Amino acid sequence: MSAPIENMQENEFCEIEATVASGFENVVKEDAEEKFNVPVDAKRGRIAFKVPMKDVKKVLDLGGIDNCFVVMSRFSNVNFPEDELECMALLRKIVYNVNWKNGLDAWSKIFSFHHPIASCPETVPVDLGAPTLSSRFHQPKNPSEEKKPKLSKSERRKLRKQQAREKFAAQNVQKAKEGEKMEKAEDLETVSTTETGQHDDENSNENTNNSQNVSEKAVSDSTCTVEKSAQKETLEKEQAPAPKKPKTTDQDPTKPAFRVTCNRNGQGHPFDSMGAASNFGGAVYNYFHWNVSMKQFDIEVILNIEGNEVSVCLALTRESLHRRYITAFGPTALRATHAYNMLRLCKLQPGEIICDPMCGGGSIPLQSAVSWNKCVSICGDIINNALKRTKENINYVAQSQPISLDVVRWDVTNLPLRTESMDVCITDLPFGIRVGSKMNNWKLYPGALMEMARVTRVEKGRACLLTQDKKCINKALSVTAKYWKCRNMVGLNMGGLAACVYVLHRTVEKYNAEDAAQMLSTALEHAKQKEGGSPTKTDTNQ
Ligand SMILES: C[S@@+](CC[C@H](N)C(=O)[O-])C[C@H]1O[C@@H](n2cnc3c(N)ncnc32)[C@H](O)[C@@H]1O
Repeated sequence: MSAPIENMQENEFCEIEATVASGFENVVKEDAEEKFNVPVDAKRGRIAFKVPMKDVKKVLDLGGIDNCFVVMSRFSNVNFPEDELECMALLRKIVYNVNWKNGLDAWSKIFSFHHPIASCPETVPVDLGAPTLSSRFHQPKNPSEEKKPKLSKSERRKLRKQQAREKFAAQNVQKAKEGEKMEKAEDLETVSTTETGQHDDENSNENTNNSQNVSEKAVSDSTCTVEKSAQKETLEKEQAPAPKKPKTTDQDPTKPAFRVTCNRNGQGHPFDSMGAASNFGGAVYNYFHWNVSMKQFDIEVILNIEGNEVSVCLALTRESLHRRYITAFGPTALRATHAYNMLRLCKLQPGEIICDPMCGGGSIPLQSAVSWNKCVSICGDIINNALKRTKENINYVAQSQPISLDVVRWDVTNLPLRTESMDVCITDLPFGIRVGSKMNNWKLYPGALMEMARVTRVEKGRACLLTQDKKCINKALSVTAKYWKCRNMVGLNMGGLAACVYVLHRTVEKYNAEDAAQMLSTALEHAKQKEGGSPTKTDTNQ
């Protein structure tokens, strides 16, 4: 039997930090508090909490988290000098003060290595290498670049949003066409950085992987790989140095391979994340003599610098957990983590029937069938390709666990379901950008809400809807106000788009077909006016 928490030593715990889509922090906080029975701290885009070492693996079962880390050490009020070299020397010294044991203990609960990994070198080196300037790792800005006309803050923001949207759309169309599953997943990861809102306009935010600094010689010979957000990458493309071939160094098979990723946020640092990652990586190398690999790493060390706060973590996930359960991605595939958090907002009870009437590739019903297996999940879509993707995803999940879910072809505005037969209708509505059209939404949304009102049980029934088309949903909510009351709204950043999740509660009002027809005809009149009188077609093109 495990020791009661109050009798446990501090070293039997570890601090976990996990990234969460901005907007869902409190949903995930509640979930973690419920599952681990510990206080959870939530701040923008992340949650942090302590768990007993034995429970580390269970953290990965939290359905709403994207990436997860064990925090080895935090350093507050770090006084960064004005001189870049002095800052780099300071960062190198931090390596001595990191609680590597705690981090590696947690790491070993999830990953393994065929040799024991010492948490401290046999002989602690007195010197962790000379600090180097970041200009040694990448070329300074081309002076001609600076002559370019400066864009205002709002122009820059607009440009970035536009570029992110175009890139996201192009990537997804490409993915859907080619069916390159692995690539699809990787591209979605790029979106993840953008969606979690890590890149603040006000601050200088960077994310850099850099572990080529095997030795001072290797540092000068090798190259850096920089991973930045899609927007930043596009803006700075022209400034990026030409990629060189990474230097291969002698590998010691008894030692794990590592890389350092630096996330820097805040103004006034006389260094960039690339320099910080390179120097920190060099010092880690000099300390442990682990192998260095940017791609085939066993251990990923994360150096977070936020203003004058520094934390050093080890990654407990190799890829974002939002890819769970999906192998067939469509143009609007919803992240599994968003689906999980939406389902959490519905406060599902065992035995309830959950319906996603516009399921696309099935992210939501797959997640409910797996994580709420005491409920019954059903789903459908109007498009054949969407049904195929859902079936493919169901078969994929079925390879690793039992799943009870089927998918039906139907029209959300005319569901083949009995009145008051569902407990929860939950769906990710077409935004009218990649699927459907904004114009069609004026007709589709009220029709969908009215039909959901019919099939959902009065008083206890709920609906949970995700959309970015706020004007249309508000109009649809006003048309169906007799049947739905909005109880909660959660704003969400989806690839630069300001989306929102609406949690609706079914009123006590019984569905009345005549009333409903009257309300809908008012909504259709409104839709026609919006269209300028042209007939509305149900847009079924993905
Ligand atoms: C935003 S997508 C859903 C994406 C889905 N959550 C996923 O993860 O793939 C909206 C879906 O609504 C479907 N749809 C549009 N009009 C519909 C209708 N009248 N009836 C049923 N489904 C419809 C589209 O085919 C599309 O798959």
